Amino acid sequence: MNNNIKQAWADLDAQAIVAKDRSILGLMDDERPGEFSARAGDMLFDYSKTSMDRAARAALLGLFDAAKVAEKREAMFNGAPINETEGRSVLHTALRNLDGGPVNVDGLDVMPEVLDTMARMEAFAQKVRNEAFTGQGGAITDVVNIGIGGSDLGPAMATRALSPYHDGPRVHFVSNVDGADIADTLRGLDATTTLVIVASKTFTTIETMTNAATARAWMSEIVTDPGAQFAALSSAEEKTQAFGIPAERVFGFEDWVGGRYSLWGPIGLSLMIAIGPDAFRAFLRGAQAMDLHFRCAEPVENMPVMLALTGIWHNQGLGYATRAVLPYSNRLGRLPAYLQQLEMESNGKRVSMDGADLTRDSGPVVWGEAGTNGQHAFYQLIHQGTRVIPCEFLVSTNGHEDGLAHQQRLLIANCFAQSEALMKGRSLEDARALMAAKGLEGSELDRQARHRVFPGNRPSSTLIYPLLDPATLGAIIALYEHRVFVEGAILGINSFDQWGVELGKELAVALEPLVAGEASAEGKDASTRALVDYVLENEVR
Ligand code: F6P
Repeated sequence: MNNNIKQAWADLDAQAIVAKDRSILGLMDDERPGEFSARAGDMLFDYSKTSMDRAARAALLGLFDAAKVAEKREAMFNGAPINETEGRSVLHTALRNLDGGPVNVDGLDVMPEVLDTMARMEAFAQKVRNEAFTGQGGAITDVVNIGIGGSDLGPAMATRALSPYHDGPRVHFVSNVDGADIADTLRGLDATTTLVIVASKTFTTIETMTNAATARAWMSEIVTDPGAQFAALSSAEEKTQAFGIPAERVFGFEDWVGGRYSLWGPIGLSLMIAIGPDAFRAFLRGAQAMDLHFRCAEPVENMPVMLALTGIWHNQGLGYATRAVLPYSNRLGRLPAYLQQLEMESNGKRVSMDGADLTRDSGPVVWGEAGTNGQHAFYQLIHQGTRVIPCEFLVSTNGHEDGLAHQQRLLIANCFAQSEALMKGRSLEDARALMAAKGLEGSELDRQARHRVFPGNRPSSTLIYPLLDPATLGAIIALYEHRVFVEGAILGINSFDQWGVELGKELAVALEPLVAGEASAEGKDASTRALVDYVLENEVR
């Protein structure tokens, strides 16, 4: 770690010590929401309900400079191999660079191929949608996307988010190797009018390949040529061919697109079939606009930068180990799960780029659930638990539902009420007055009042936008991608590898024969042996 960064972290730590007991409400004045917010297009990110003051923000911006994030950002956009442990460029932004000019990797412009693949996807999606591509039984009624991690969470989240724009066949997602997932999905579908999309960058992921084989077996029972109703989204062309999917229905992408960043290209095919190529392009354009903003806006006005610095303030500065993502949007119900992979697979690392142990905490635990459902589940702990959990709210001004504007207003009111309650809390004095009004007195009044105290001073931010349309969703996802980039760059880690998922995968492969009773569990630890024994004793074969 160079001295500039060390000094920048020391400056931040000094600010965090001062801010520890600072009153957020005490910072609030009429100027603050304008000063402690960022705008991108028609979206507003408000972080005024945090303990960050001007000095703390200056320290955070100092960290941004010391970590040379702006230079790293340009290196990413320009195709430098910043994923150093895998020797790869990181260019998911090229997938939405619809008219942004050349992007070179090793001196070669990748854009012609990106645009060519996009055109092939669009042509295929259109054929499926206008019934030029059919199954054995006629027009495609159902599309089943089989993938996991980045090959599932992105399209599944976005397809649900954009359901008002669906005008294509029904789209389903299967990810879990638990046979219940595919069985529940295929039940009730007509194999002769179903298109199966096998989405796997590597085409080796055991969950996906197992489910793909199950789907093919299911289809073979009725369909004479099941391969004719399969498509593949993958970088591994030979493997897709070996599986029996003809090249014209294989949509490839390069290794410079990471799995959790891959929604913008072929992995988005199921979404494109659901909403149509035009709406998909609008989605890409929203993301492209956020890319431009991220590249050009001054750090203090830069939404991804300030979202990231808010995260660094809370996690590495103030030591809050988790953050809740709380979309007040039922259709964004899968956003927390999507962000769990995006943020935790990217920034859940314990060594910096050069292999040295991190001296700061890695990225936080990300979790959440759509409001208002979460309010009736875990908000109790957020308001009155002993740990502080920074909350990130998302909400739109408008819904899509005709005649239900009053429900949207109620949703917004709930969202704003939560951030207000978190900040203001309720004092013991107010709680006592409430109890006194109910006729309580003496020790019972004291006891009851204490349960009704809200400590308040709990930080939150709010991202608000007019409507969850394709362009806005694209911008939101790109916003979070860049947030992850900035936080990772400040921590000095590689946000684009995922070595931490490998060990479990290897052990699972080795354990399968043990669980099947085909190999001895000798050599395994006593606990694992006992668990394997339990399975062998109880499995109904
Ligand atoms: O969980 C590890 C991981 O490699 C993710 O990064 C990726 O999104 C997922 O598995 C699926 O990989 P693939 O698309 O190659 O099947």
